[in-house]
Amino acid sequence: MNDTDLSKLQIPEHVAIIMDGNGRWAKKRGLPRTFGHKEGCKTVEQTVEDAARLGIRYLTVYAFSTENWKRSEEEVGALMQLFRYYMVRLLDVATKNNVRVKMIGDRRRFPEDIRKGIEKLEDQTAEATGLTFVIAVNYGGRDELRRAALAFAQDVKDGKREADEASFTEADLAGYLDTSFMPDPDLLIRTSGELRLSNFLLWQCAYSEIVVTDVLWPDFNRDVLIDAIAQFNQRSRRYGGV
Ligand code: FPP
Repeated sequence: MNDTDLSKLQIPEHVAIIMDGNGRWAKKRGLPRTFGHKEGCKTVEQTVEDAARLGIRYLTVYAFSTENWKRSEEEVGALMQLFRYYMVRLLDVATKNNVRVKMIGDRRRFPEDIRKGIEKLEDQTAEATGLTFVIAVNYGGRDELRRAALAFAQDVKDGKREADEASFTEADLAGYLDTSFMPDPDLLIRTSGELRLSNFLLWQCAYSEIVVTDVLWPDFNRDVLIDAIAQFNQRSRRYGGV
């Protein structure tokens, strides 16, 4: 798509991505799965830059789910090492591109050095005014709702809130979610062809437009992103109305 065509597209405010297919990408090349994750990290970096330049305001990626701990010790360990390395690189990418970085998910389960790295990345990019890049780590949509329920129950116990029909709205519930600082995704992209939500942003994707591409995550690029945005532009969003 040339730049003239691009200028006719409405750019979604919030794009969320389920980055799938790293393992298959590596397998196709006779390489260990971890090579796919490494390549996938490079794609993440590039996608942050592309999204920032396209004028997307929020980009959320699913980097590690609450279920991913079930993978082999070797693969989980390799992903942790990649987080350590890319948190440092991402600080650089974020600074150069005026990107604010935020993490969602339950970070308490991560080793202390990673938790500290996350805090540093968030603190040092907090003032950026361009793209907000959100990384979902140890994230599960059901777990997020469970934690929100616990936080609400605690507030009721502390006398800060009333648990009755009139005073607890959907917006109040959304305020307890990890994503309370941003709008819901307009467009959800999933790579590598699977037609599943896989416990990602269950509440927030109620009215998101979904685009599934067969491209494996390490092969994802600006053209695939623009093609997904073009498909988004052809949808008519009715939010349950007519
Ligand atoms: C899915 O591919 C991918 C993951 C579970 C991990 C995604 C993580 C990254 C790309 C790294 C993110 C890094 C940063 C710094 C944000 P899969 O392994 O499920 O692939 P498969 O379905 O082909 O087996």
